[in-house]
Amino acid sequence: MHILVIGGAGYIGSHMVKFLGRQGCRVTTLDNLAGGHRDAVLHGDFVQGDIADRAGLDALFRGQHFDAVMHFASFIQVGESVTAPARYYQNNLVNTLNLLDAMRDANIDKFIFSSTAAIFGEPRSDRIDEAHPRQPINPYGRTKLMVEQVLADYDAAYGLKSVCLRYFNAAGADPEGELGERHEPETHLIPLVLRAASGRRPHITVFGRDYDTPDGTCIRDYVHINDLCSAHWLALQSLLSGGGSQAFNLGNGSGFSVQQVIDTARRVTGREIPVQYADRRAGDPARLVADATRAVAQLGWAPRYAALDTLIEHAWRWEQKVLLRG
Ligand code: UFG
Repeated sequence: MHILVIGGAGYIGSHMVKFLGRQGCRVTTLDNLAGGHRDAVLHGDFVQGDIADRAGLDALFRGQHFDAVMHFASFIQVGESVTAPARYYQNNLVNTLNLLDAMRDANIDKFIFSSTAAIFGEPRSDRIDEAHPRQPINPYGRTKLMVEQVLADYDAAYGLKSVCLRYFNAAGADPEGELGERHEPETHLIPLVLRAASGRRPHITVFGRDYDTPDGTCIRDYVHINDLCSAHWLALQSLLSGGGSQAFNLGNGSGFSVQQVIDTARRVTGREIPVQYADRRAGDPARLVADATRAVAQLGWAPRYAALDTLIEHAWRWEQKVLLRG
């Protein structure tokens, strides 16, 4: 089986490439290295290229057959998507259309798409299942929802089978310590908390403590990167065995506040973590927690690393490795 992983040099993609390698798959990574790292691709072939480049995609598809494509390459910063929407519509939507059309011409009809909780907008229930209204409140979420809608139309018209996986808060690192989160700039809570623990940053800034939550800070559903990989693997099996197009919400169904994340990180690392408090960050809902019942029931998904301690432990091991490497 030969899988093409777009964005395989990035945070989630690189873990997926390693996971697929362990399953004995042949893997090719296509990545433009705008945000990814060549040395994070631990398995298979690597092609430096961009999904905006139709001729490059055609050449890649002429040279070999792919049984399925997994697409991790997108811009992910909500705030930036508000100030620079053109970048987001171009990269996340237009370039994805380019990829889908090249796949269509090459008769590749299986696609796994990295979607997001941001397609739902302001939550209307404690746990968000797939029936929740999809009303994104920022361009990032809209680009992902638009691709989901395109995929439904492409299935109906062209028979392209897809699985959309809507991650809540992807976090953690390779349990074996070989891979981790390497965004620059880093904006995500857990790696920033751990940088404050290791001394790479002076403190963690908490955005808002006046939310309507028990301790006043935002609640999120942190899902381990390897559990996301296992969901992709199960989605792939479903498509390969003739399953139809589907969408799944992926989270553990339990929420942790920013304050709880910091307290857990203090316990796991045994370090001081200086905290500063600031105003709310624009566009942050108070609480985002998944109902992943469908993924459990239909894919047989069984998250292995649901404990926040474990997730932070793995991310901390990675932070220490990065520090040692300098
Ligand atoms: N936070 C802080 N301080 C920081 C960084 C984050 O207090 O320095 C808070 C945020 O306000 C939020 C929580 O920590 O309440 C989590 O923030 P992240 O930036 O780690 O994650 P988000 O929930 O904002 O974003 C996640 C994904 C995005 C995706 C979004 C969709 O990481 O890629 O969900 O809702 F777009």
